[in-house]
Amino acid sequence: MILEALNYAASWPLTMPAHRPFVRSSVNLWSRANRCAKHWAAHEANSKAVILAACDGLRQRRTAVVLGSGLLRDVPILELANRFDTVVLVDLVHLASTRAWIATKGLKNIRLIERDLSGFDQLAMGQNPEPLSFLRQVPYLDFVVSANLLSQIGTGAQKRLDAMPGDAMPAGVMPADALGRLIEAHLDGLHDIAAPTCLLTDVRYTVIDRTGHEHESVDLLHAVAVPAHQTSWDWPVVPLGEESPDYQVIHRVIACTTP
Ligand SMILES: C[S@@+](CC[C@H](N)C(=O)[O-])C[C@H]1O[C@@H](n2cnc3c(N)ncnc32)[C@H](O)[C@@H]1O
Repeated sequence: MILEALNYAASWPLTMPAHRPFVRSSVNLWSRANRCAKHWAAHEANSKAVILAACDGLRQRRTAVVLGSGLLRDVPILELANRFDTVVLVDLVHLASTRAWIATKGLKNIRLIERDLSGFDQLAMGQNPEPLSFLRQVPYLDFVVSANLLSQIGTGAQKRLDAMPGDAMPAGVMPADALGRLIEAHLDGLHDIAAPTCLLTDVRYTVIDRTGHEHESVDLLHAVAVPAHQTSWDWPVVPLGEESPDYQVIHRVIACTTP
């Protein structure tokens, strides 16, 4: 609890005001990731292996961008920093603990960008969301990773919609399929990048009891078709005992790489 409070307090002034409301969820993720380290290890190892395999054969290794870099738990940052001239990490929040870790490792070629990657604001203004269009301005872009971010775009957008009073937006501007539109916009944005990409995302979660009985399965892509993928695995995001002694929540993760 004390470490969480310190991380929160240290991260607050380092985070732009508009993104400060997200510091708490990043600290919560940090805390849960530490508690569940044993259960998350296979997922993190799989994610790192897929990312490294995706950039193994690249002819040029100038700039790599990691979308949803977060706590750098499922991103092989030491290897990427070694392989690329520059690695750009993009997230809503870069916690003080993550910044300190980068500094401790002496990684000089890492750039941090705080950015909302959802496209929510564009969609709310009646525009076509192009959340990844900024990547066109990144010089010498040779590789892009979307690192277990995509499902969080839907979850975050749902929270923003739930928190809005009914009259906060002009009637009819936010489409009924807003969450699916934002998820599609991310997939389209990745598809349009002229460099190789690697998408890692959970696509659904299932609530399972002690006997192995499945109680509920939820589509995290909000009816968007699961992209063609090379591999997939289970990620026990909420293992038995984390939230309940009787239930666990298992997420299905897919990995897609494009040459
Ligand atoms: C499941 S975590 C990914 C874990 C991360 N790849 C790691 O290695 O620790 C999801 C990440 O997406 C970020 N995120 C969620 N919504 C976002 C948004 N709209 N724009 C940018 N980042 C977002 C969160 O801050 C979080 O760091």
